[in-house]
Amino acid sequence: MKKWVVLNHKMNLLLDDVYSYIEEIKHLQTDYEVVICPSSLYLPYFKNLPFSLGIQNVFYEDKGSFTGEISCAQASSLGVKYALIGHSERRKYFNEEDIDIRRKIEKVIIHNMCSIFCIGEKEKNDKNIMDVLQAQIDCVFSQLPDFKQIIIAYEPVWAIGSGKSLDVSDIQSIVVQIKKYCFKKYQFTPPVLYGGSVDKSNFFRIITIKEVDGVLIGTYSIKGSNVVDLLK
Ligand code: PGA
Repeated sequence: MKKWVVLNHKMNLLLDDVYSYIEEIKHLQTDYEVVICPSSLYLPYFKNLPFSLGIQNVFYEDKGSFTGEISCAQASSLGVKYALIGHSERRKYFNEEDIDIRRKIEKVIIHNMCSIFCIGEKEKNDKNIMDVLQAQIDCVFSQLPDFKQIIIAYEPVWAIGSGKSLDVSDIQSIVVQIKKYCFKKYQFTPPVLYGGSVDKSNFFRIITIKEVDGVLIGTYSIKGSNVVDLLK
């Protein structure tokens, strides 16, 4: 099975940057399942590349008077296959709560897209990391009718954008614990990605951890040349 490399551009790039980015990456050939999550405005520009399209957020209603929101139905009609759900920046700046996250994941499943469900502890050296992660998982999984097409992205919040990623051995240990927990409690073993300051210096060490199914890259993915350098 291919490992995932998910590129989260967040709220970066202007239209001219998008054109240059596409020029840089369009001939890239790689064995990874590359998922590009640009700012939603630019999704159509990335449509005809040999990579999958991901959206950084969705709303859980299908249509209607929800100014500024994008539904799964709309994303799916554009060919979007993946949706980041519950990213820590959404939780922090847009007050997204577990119930919203659950409703979004349910809708993503209905529309046959794949959720990349983000979880992670806030503080470095948190003694109860697994308690935090289990609570985040339970809020969603305990109510879900179906576990289709869910990938977990483990992203320690303190590591995001900080230039400090978690040690490889800790990543491995936590990813294994997440999988074991999900299997024991829900008889479902999700693929688990790691995210948080992944760049050229640590990409290879992390992606080759047997139990890690891929990575989620933010800051480092904003330059097309970085992506080519990493994945060529
Ligand atoms: P980062 O972001 O690579 O800049 O740490 C990762 C993320 O927010 O998904």
